[in-house]
Amino acid sequence: MKSGLSSFLTIIAVLGLVGVCYGGELRKNFYGDSCPLAERIVRSIIWNRVECNSTLPAKFLRMHFHDCFVRGCDGSILLDSTANNTAEKAAVPNLSLAGFDVIDEIKTQLENTCPGVVSCADIVALAARDSVSFQFKRPIWEVLTGRRDGTISRASEALANIPSPFFNFATLKQSFANKSLTVQDLVVLSGGHTIGVGHCNFFSNRLYNFTGNGDEDPSLNPTYAAFLKTKCQSLSDNTTTVPMDPGSPLSFDNNYFKILKQNEGLFQSDAALLTNEGASNIVDELLDSEDFFTEFGKSMVRMGAIDVRTGSSGEIRKKCNVVNS
Ligand code: HEM
Ligand SMILES: *[C@@H]1O[C@H](CO)[C@@H](O)[C@H](O)[C@H]1NC(C)=O
Ligand SMILES: *[C@@H]1O[C@H](CO)[C@@H](O)[C@H](O)[C@H]1NC(C)=O
Ligand SMILES: *[C@@H]1O[C@H](CO)[C@@H](O)[C@H](O)[C@H]1NC(C)=O
Ligand SMILES: *[C@@H]1O[C@H](CO)[C@@H](O)[C@H](O)[C@H]1NC(C)=O
Ligand SMILES: *[C@@H]1O[C@H](CO)[C@@H](O)[C@H](O)[C@H]1NC(C)=O
Ligand SMILES: *[C@@H]1O[C@H](CO)[C@@H](O)[C@H](O)[C@H]1NC(C)=O
Repeated sequence: MKSGLSSFLTIIAVLGLVGVCYGGELRKNFYGDSCPLAERIVRSIIWNRVECNSTLPAKFLRMHFHDCFVRGCDGSILLDSTANNTAEKAAVPNLSLAGFDVIDEIKTQLENTCPGVVSCADIVALAARDSVSFQFKRPIWEVLTGRRDGTISRASEALANIPSPFFNFATLKQSFANKSLTVQDLVVLSGGHTIGVGHCNFFSNRLYNFTGNGDEDPSLNPTYAAFLKTKCQSLSDNTTTVPMDPGSPLSFDNNYFKILKQNEGLFQSDAALLTNEGASNIVDELLDSEDFFTEFGKSMVRMGAIDVRTGSSGEIRKKCNVVNS
């Protein structure tokens, strides 16, 4: 009797737990039954666009990062400002955000195929993976799906949560820890800077006025600093961009870690990874290309799970730039 009751309670507890996990977590191929073509539609549109525009993978990778660091990966990065609210998109760190038109095109196609099923947050996660993977013609990390869309997007929260390129190691570590990400994730994901560009004003203090005496950052390779000065001609230049990985700015590879070791990381936040022994050891490991790809995939899954809404939380937006009315 007693053991019958306790095993009954055990079964309830286990079922309860399974129930929570089932509704509360992302999974592989979430749309397998509800919208079997979903992942193929995303990939097809992304690959067509990337084929004509090789700057897009960097845009989508960064878009996913910014989405996840503000209110979790909930598509809040896609919402437009309204009369009453300045959205994340409009915050200062947004400078190079782009590709919103492609997300809208994908959403339109998905709504035609399976209305109200696929979240904008999942579209962003898939777009990041598929755009970066175009170069390899196969997915280079796994994206779990089942995210739902948030309804709130505030510029002030982007400012508070997106790490700054002027951060030192301690603040970078704290910024990632705030999202339950480790130093391993910080170093590995900084490898995202193997593609794309940065605006001069995010690093020109390192060229022209590092400590306020018209000096250079001593941790920046002097030859590279001289080259950067030919591109960024003043402290106030906020229009010129330079590649973050000058050797192969369009190729997703581990070259970021090679140039980092030569003190050619573009931002102070890149150089900061060499100022901590543990982080620096991780940089050394990532000089191995195979390790980099394996670890990048693992850390992207962790980043892609930050504070996600699942089950019946949030909504499935009909249009990615506005909340449902
Ligand atoms: C560790 C803290 C990080 C800091 C401080 C940082 C900062 C920046 C800054 C300042 C830019 C240049 C934006 C511009 O000038 O327009 C940039 C670009 C970029 N970031 Fe990061 N980032 C960080 C982490 C990440 C992560 C985790 C990813 C993705 C995994 C990422 C992916 C990118 C990409 C792809 C670009 C290029 C965007 C483009 O070409 O338009 N970053 N980042
Ligand atoms: C702005 O706020 C006012 C008052 O709170 C509300 O009546 C109005 O609908 C809001 N407008 C938008 C675009 O959200
Ligand atoms: C980024 O912010 C600037 C200035 O706040 C704004 O003019 C621009 O439209 C924003 N970019 C995007 C993609 O929303
Ligand atoms: C490629 O995409 C970027 C980001 O949307 C855009 O600024 C640029 O004009 C595009 N380039 C071409 C050639 O279409
Ligand atoms: C981490 O989170 C705390 C608490 O929300 C906040 O005060 C702090 O500024 C955050 N730190 C960074 C570097 O994002
Ligand atoms: C360099 O920094 C110092 C101290 O912040 C400042 O007084 C000076 O005006 C700066 N120089 C330039 C060229 O901006
Ligand atoms: C760039 O700098 C100019 C002049 O300081 C300023 O008016 C403009 O708003 C800045 N643009 C951006 C995108 O920050």
